[in-house]
Amino acid sequence: MFFLNSPYNRRERERNAKCIIDMKGPTTIITDPSDNDEKKFAFDYSYWSHDGSKEQADGYYGPDPSHPNGKKFCDQKRVFEDIGVGILKNAWEGYNTTLFAYGQTGSGKSWSIVGYGINKGVVPMFCEQIFKGIDEKKKAGEKTEFEIMFSMLEIYNEQVRDLLDSKPPKRGGLKVRQHPKKGFYADGLQITPVSSYSEIEDKMEEGTTNRTVASTNMNATSSRAHTIVGMTFIQKFINAAGEETTKSALINLVDLAGSERADSTGATGDRLKEGAAINQSLSCLGNVISALADRSNGKNTRVPFRDSCLTKLLKNALGGNSKTIMIAAVSPADINYDESLSTLRYADRAKQIKTTASVNEDPTEKLIRELQEENEKLKAMLGGNVKMEVMKDDDEDLSDEELAKLKQEMEEEYKSRLETNAKEMEEMHKTFEERLAEAHKHGGGQHLAEILEKKKKMPYLSNLNMDPQLSGHIVLFIEKPEVTIGNSKGSCDIMLKGPSIVENHAIIREDKGAFSIEPSEANVRLMRNGKLVTNKTELKYNDRLIFGTTQYFVFINPKDKSAKDAPTVNFEMAQEEIAKKSGFDVTSENKTRDEALLKEDIVELMPAVEECNSISEELDKKMKFELMVVSAEARGELKGRTEVMVRVVNLETKHEWIWPREKFMNRKFLMQEMYQNFLEGEEWDLPKERDPFSEDYEAEFHIGSVKIWLQSLAYHIEIKEQLDITDFKGQEVGLLNVELIPCDKKGKEYTEKDDVFVNSPDELKGKDVNFVVKILSARGLPSQFTDIYLKYLVYHEDKYTCSNPIKNTINPDWNHKRVVNFTKADDELLKYLSESAIMVQIWGKQKPPKTKKSINTKQAILSDALRKGQTSAANTNTKVFDSDKVKYMMKVAMLEKRQQQMQNKIDALNRMLELADQHSKKKISTQLIKNIYHAPTHDQAEKCLKLVEKEKDVGNDEDDTEFEAAVLGKDQPDRKRGKSGNSSRSSSSMSSRSGRNSKSSSFCVVL
Ligand SMILES: Nc1ncnc2c1ncn2[C@@H]1O[C@H](COP(=O)(O)OP(=O)(O)OP(=O)(O)O)[C@@H](O)[C@H]1O
Ligand SMILES: [Mg+2]
Repeated sequence: MFFLNSPYNRRERERNAKCIIDMKGPTTIITDPSDNDEKKFAFDYSYWSHDGSKEQADGYYGPDPSHPNGKKFCDQKRVFEDIGVGILKNAWEGYNTTLFAYGQTGSGKSWSIVGYGINKGVVPMFCEQIFKGIDEKKKAGEKTEFEIMFSMLEIYNEQVRDLLDSKPPKRGGLKVRQHPKKGFYADGLQITPVSSYSEIEDKMEEGTTNRTVASTNMNATSSRAHTIVGMTFIQKFINAAGEETTKSALINLVDLAGSERADSTGATGDRLKEGAAINQSLSCLGNVISALADRSNGKNTRVPFRDSCLTKLLKNALGGNSKTIMIAAVSPADINYDESLSTLRYADRAKQIKTTASVNEDPTEKLIRELQEENEKLKAMLGGNVKMEVMKDDDEDLSDEELAKLKQEMEEEYKSRLETNAKEMEEMHKTFEERLAEAHKHGGGQHLAEILEKKKKMPYLSNLNMDPQLSGHIVLFIEKPEVTIGNSKGSCDIMLKGPSIVENHAIIREDKGAFSIEPSEANVRLMRNGKLVTNKTELKYNDRLIFGTTQYFVFINPKDKSAKDAPTVNFEMAQEEIAKKSGFDVTSENKTRDEALLKEDIVELMPAVEECNSISEELDKKMKFELMVVSAEARGELKGRTEVMVRVVNLETKHEWIWPREKFMNRKFLMQEMYQNFLEGEEWDLPKERDPFSEDYEAEFHIGSVKIWLQSLAYHIEIKEQLDITDFKGQEVGLLNVELIPCDKKGKEYTEKDDVFVNSPDELKGKDVNFVVKILSARGLPSQFTDIYLKYLVYHEDKYTCSNPIKNTINPDWNHKRVVNFTKADDELLKYLSESAIMVQIWGKQKPPKTKKSINTKQAILSDALRKGQTSAANTNTKVFDSDKVKYMMKVAMLEKRQQQMQNKIDALNRMLELADQHSKKKISTQLIKNIYHAPTHDQAEKCLKLVEKEKDVGNDEDDTEFEAAVLGKDQPDRKRGKSGNSSRSSSSMSSRSGRNSKSSSFCVVL
């Protein structure tokens, strides 16, 4: 088990991301950026490659001795010394070995397995070394024959594809079959003999190019594919007993798909989620690893190898005859904390798995005999002479139906194995040289070296792919002064596949060394540097071109003088400029973690939305998609980060829906599949319930939300307000009439007359807080909704309180009322009341379609987008509405009320003073003052004021003198303190008040 961290990518550097990974010896330490909590994980090795390196003149990243982390830094050579050398040893000894790389997209899996350019990863270095070893042995006169077979496959969406086959893959891909001895294998996979390292390099290039073409043409996201490079190393020699012996080692190098980002919103709630199975293989691998780890710890758990193609093909590697190494790669940036921690945990589990490997060494004779015997047996089984064997694991409990299906699969499998075995036997009789010669004859294809030469002289378009590993593998040379580009229906010089690419799409022209591009017809989707191209436009070095919505290229003219200093353009830059031109703020500088995540989402989703629009156009699906940036508040949530969502509009009925990112990505995946079937001339349309474009208009729709601030309740003041209802886009869509009223335990509302307000929320501490939430009605809601209801959560509740739904009105009257009781308010509750709110969400259903207007999707979407000259964005700014407005409105209302209450009291005291003057009163008792001060109503105050005149001057002279002295600073004779007045308690019902005033209760006021 190895652990590796990668350097920051450009965005992370620009953002000044915080590094949350550290490594000490073999231990990896991760720090939670929110609370600095550290977690430690021990592995066989932990490799630091985040910093401390220097790019050498030839482009190789080596340790930088002048950097404080120079010693800590592990370059590719170091990694190879630890991992690769071990694999080499295994190969020579005849052990099967598997190396797989796990980690989040962009974390450095491909970097370590394959590498980039001169920074070669384990695979190329291993290949180089094994051929070096063979040459040395041959030179030393060893008689052993050496054979190396190479294969390369990809698993995408549960389909296995031979990457050495340039033909478009068969539907359903290669079958994964099971051999009783060899285990699972991909049936029909080309396994080619190779005789030198450069041949392997060519094969890898061929495989990667095929992968790139498939990924670009099918709009597949390559980081969701798993790549397995397989090499069989065979040594044939005469053993001590004089028998011809075959020693073989199978080496599997697995570059896994990027682990998906755990979405903060969690479940998508999409009914089509199951169908999408975006990465069944990866989640299944997780289950297999967990089960195997449990087994290693003595639990008898079933291991679900059969649940995915990947786990079938890796069965031997994980649970059988193989020495297995896992590299887990993490990004060190704080933004990726969740993913990095999950990778560490994954690796920690995988660490517990133990495999048992044995040397694969047998007399050749025996191998041939076994093959013959197996063939006889297969023939007999297929002929019905022998009972068909069903291969299943001992611990597998299959139903009759499953068993029958398995039997049928077995029959097919036996037939195919018979053929393979026959071929294998034939091959065994040929020498390796004969097989090599045959492979070369069929191989063909342009060699890497030739293409590299041509690239130095001729201008070309070089593809950009989301996976940097796949960028630059499609090279379209501009070989003539006029090169036409279009889809495969026509006869253009360059043919591209993809949504919105038309028969005659664009022309690239050269005129005296200057290049230009022009759309071949009006209204085509052609972008140059993020901007729509509508007429002849100059084409310069490094210009980004997008044909349709999925074919990204960069124009390179090696003769251009500016070429020398030009930076390397990548896919992300091309995506960013689209988002930027559409008005989204995607700058990287000084972003918080949440902002950075949002930016990543925008950059990822903007082109995806475009792509779905263009598929919708081509399939005339009447649906339009728009990207939206939505704050937690606009989503009707109290907390959470600002996220991207997709607004979906049915262009005919005008119904609309809002999809969360994950749901949209699921649907996009299914739309791509549908489009692929369409392109291939297959049955492509699907019934409504499985159509990714279809959405039920009756699905509940979140019309808008209102935040009711609770601050007034922290002062025990009632509030009655009409508040704006705002929708996802932050626009006002109606008004909500709400009341929050303090009440007693049973819900009896306090009125102003009860005078229950407090001066500070602290006074409520330890007391019961009860209030009534009244949501009476909404006014002026959009007319397309019916069955409108509201729902909300209070404090820590997790179950929504809902009102009844009201049909067919834009002014629903719910008269909703709910009593909320809290006993013994603590600081947390008081903080909630003082600083937080109840978020009321208004939901409804859309009304059935009226008469449908027949439209053409393409015209409807395109005319709009082209007019704007930009892509589809529903809103580009989260601050469309001022979310603080409601808060301040409510605060002002509350303060006004408090002010009014205070004013009443001051008025009453002023009246008291006037009356005292009128009646030449010298003293008034504290009790009476209190009663006046705390009188809950005006009448009550008046009653008390009448007592001013009637009250006898209380207290004795001694007290008076004493008090006068204290207040007026007169000399005070030394007298014995008399009994103070009385220690009366407030008559107010609010006990809090007695506490507050108790200090003054033994005094009376001298006037
Ligand atoms: N240790 C490293 N040193 C220098 N650059 C690195 C290192 N690790 C990764 N990178 C760079 O980071 C980028 C992403 O790395 P890589 O392609 O290996 O990611 P990945 O894990 O294979 O992602 P995906 O799941 O998308 O295939 C590449 O441009 C690569 O050059
Ligand atoms: Mg990769």
